[in-house]
Amino acid sequence: MSDGAAHGRTADAIDGRRFRDVLGNFPTSVVAITTTDDERHPHGMVVGTFTSVSLEPPLVSFLGDRSSTTLRTIRTAGRFCANALAGNQERLSRQMAGVSSKRFEGTTWNPSPLGNPVLDGIVAWVDCTVEQSVEIGDHWLVVGRVRDMRVESPKTPLLFFRGGYGDYMSSAGQLLDSLVGWHEIGR
Ligand SMILES: Cc1cc2nc3c(=O)[nH]c(=O)nc-3n(C[C@H](O)[C@H](O)[C@H](O)COP(=O)(O)O)c2cc1C
Repeated sequence: MSDGAAHGRTADAIDGRRFRDVLGNFPTSVVAITTTDDERHPHGMVVGTFTSVSLEPPLVSFLGDRSSTTLRTIRTAGRFCANALAGNQERLSRQMAGVSSKRFEGTTWNPSPLGNPVLDGIVAWVDCTVEQSVEIGDHWLVVGRVRDMRVESPKTPLLFFRGGYGDYMSSAGQLLDSLVGWHEIGR
């Protein structure tokens, strides 16, 4: 018998609060998944579930809530672009995860090769056609076939951790910062 079983920790004991609290300790990227509808109007949603899947063939994926209206538009369009948001784009992320009619208000973007919105100021984008959608639990796993991709800027990415946003900084960057700080103080 495993320790878990001995303590009666079955899946039944995992409620939504605990699920979110524990998984919030696993940091994620912040990615705006975008597409357009039949009238070429932009649609988008923020996800923390974007990941690479396969190199040969080139596949990526994200998970979308079954109730998401944007996801429905993406599956109908059969294509999407994954926009990696930059560390200084927290406001844009909040907007993109907020009221759906206002998500593109005041934003500037250009169409990707497939016609999906590539937002200004992002770190990188991956343009995909929908290869497969699999219903898993209360989400859809959407697998995208990469048709084009590009790094747009050397900016650092926006991250999400324990319910809050943050900016990535490498250990080397931190060291440099502290050295510069000491240097400034010493002047
Ligand atoms: C940091 C962050 C990560 C998110 N990750 C996901 C995700 O992986 N999948 C998802 O369906 N919604 C995710 N959401 C919620 C969506 O951005 C959005 O609020 C909602 O799903 C959109 O629903 P709609 O398409 O019906 O407007 C996330 C929100 C935030 C702020």
